[in-house]
Amino acid sequence: EKAGYDHFMLKEIHEQPTAIQKTFAGKLMELEGTIKMDELYLTPEQIKHLRRATIIACGTSWNAGILGKYLFEKLAGIHTDIETASEFRYGNPVLCGEELTIAITQSGETADTLAAVRSSQSYGCRTVAITNVVGSTITRESSSVVYTRAGPEIGVAATKTFTAQLITLYMLAIYLGRVRGVLSAEEAKNLIVNIKRLPGQIQKILNRKDKIKECAEQFADKRDYFFIGRYLNFPIALEGALKLKEISYIHAEGYAAGELKHGPLALLTDETPVVAIATKGHTYDKILSNIKEVKARDATVIAVANEDDTEIEKYVDEVLRIPQSHEMTAPILTSVVLQLLAYYTALANDCSIDKPRNLAKSVTVE
Ligand code: M6R
Repeated sequence: EKAGYDHFMLKEIHEQPTAIQKTFAGKLMELEGTIKMDELYLTPEQIKHLRRATIIACGTSWNAGILGKYLFEKLAGIHTDIETASEFRYGNPVLCGEELTIAITQSGETADTLAAVRSSQSYGCRTVAITNVVGSTITRESSSVVYTRAGPEIGVAATKTFTAQLITLYMLAIYLGRVRGVLSAEEAKNLIVNIKRLPGQIQKILNRKDKIKECAEQFADKRDYFFIGRYLNFPIALEGALKLKEISYIHAEGYAAGELKHGPLALLTDETPVVAIATKGHTYDKILSNIKEVKARDATVIAVANEDDTEIEKYVDEVLRIPQSHEMTAPILTSVVLQLLAYYTALANDCSIDKPRNLAKSVTVE
């Protein structure tokens, strides 16, 4: 049932080209420059009048939600908050009922996420659930459901369901942006073309995974790791760190690169590898200066960079490559690189990859 792979996690990482194809199948309307979103029970009028969106999720789904916030704000012009479900529930949300709540949960059964959705509905907010499991509890409790269609995920570590959530968030943001007149048809088309390229680009990364394995083995004995990124790469850094700690039991922190100098720099030594997401985009120069700060503290830097970036090699110790891609869709490719890095680090440490200690696939306790 592992189809020849050593672990479900590795199988599920390799399923991503087809999994995300299923996520977007029948939805990308390239010629019209929009997305088919019939499952969203919101009229164009309601979409135009949306004042705010709140994304609620836990763990990996919360990391996806941070990227979702950036996408909704950039592509659809909707002010968006992102909260972990367990904080939202016990906080004092100020909601007036004109907000949209978006709950992201792979399993559809996470207790805190379900409770947070109920709480937001008590204010009269409409809820959209993004989930992978047909018929799960969240689907019965939300006004609309958008399925990620990634197929069953057995490994406790979320991999293909994470990238499928990201694709779903891109599609939702494009759709809302088009209805609200914030995004032009041309811009939407360009994004759609780039989304369509992703399965082939992910396959390229998978074909070259030996380089990632070598890098993971080289640093597998380190006990502390940092992952840094900016803007769309910030949630990907958080997710890279979460994946590493979850399956390899190595302490890892994900940080917004600009925050390093506000405390964590004090922790850096030649024993702390720093994974810097340095793919091309409007924050590239800024992350390069962060890399220089890190190198000045003797830390080893492993950069994730574009294929044709020859400059980066001058500043870092190792470079893991992603194919040439649009700034907006590159984070999905980087996610795959970081999943493989975590997987091979855990393998080198002989960890129980598919069933990490103390964790469950579905967190139904509060
Ligand atoms: O099923 P959900 O998406 O609601 O699960 C939320 C988290 O428990 C989950 O993403 C967890 O963080 C993963 N095991 C991480 O790989």
